[in-house]
Amino acid sequence: MLNNDIERVLITEKQLREKVEQLGKKISSDYKNSDNFLMVGVLKGAVVFMSDLIRCVNLPLQIDFMAVSSYGTSTESSGVVRILKDLDESVEGKDVLIIEDIIDSGLTLSYMYNILKSRKPASIKICALLDKPSRRKVELDVDYLGFEIPDYFVVGYGLDYAGKYRNLCDVCVLKPEIYQD
Ligand code: XMP
Ligand code: MG
Repeated sequence: MLNNDIERVLITEKQLREKVEQLGKKISSDYKNSDNFLMVGVLKGAVVFMSDLIRCVNLPLQIDFMAVSSYGTSTESSGVVRILKDLDESVEGKDVLIIEDIIDSGLTLSYMYNILKSRKPASIKICALLDKPSRRKVELDVDYLGFEIPDYFVVGYGLDYAGKYRNLCDVCVLKPEIYQD
């Protein structure tokens, strides 16, 4: 049972739904004059958040995905990032909004931001569901943020540990004994 590995729920399904609706409204208003709006999801963690978010944005938009792997341990990234799957189409001239599940050190997103920025989008911004500001190693402007959280390792709503728990409806704190040996 997945639930036996969970210490407690940190953000409920209802809180997530309300926050995603708020973010969707703000994004809809900010991008209403864009005629080339592209949301770029970071695989795989952002998939659940992004699929809910796009249905709260009342504008024409396109989606694309990028998969990156950051070398490091399973709970900590090293900042050395490799592109596993690049975007299908060019971002040149587009208003790009990067959608990420969680920002920890900021190294992964900062790397992606710089790569996409070098490809000459009309604009580029960042939307993240969760942020652990206490762990930040590089400066990063987050334009749209769901929740700031303390330094817990969390799973659910797209976030995983060792590939598991993505299908939980709430954001949950994992029992430490699951990832500490
Ligand atoms: P950095 O340190 O580069 O890391 O900002 C961001 C990536 O690390 C993963 N990450 C987590 N994944 N629960 C997770 O399931 C967490 O608490 C957590 N903290 C960081 C995540 O893949 C994110 O993209
Ligand atoms: Mg991720």
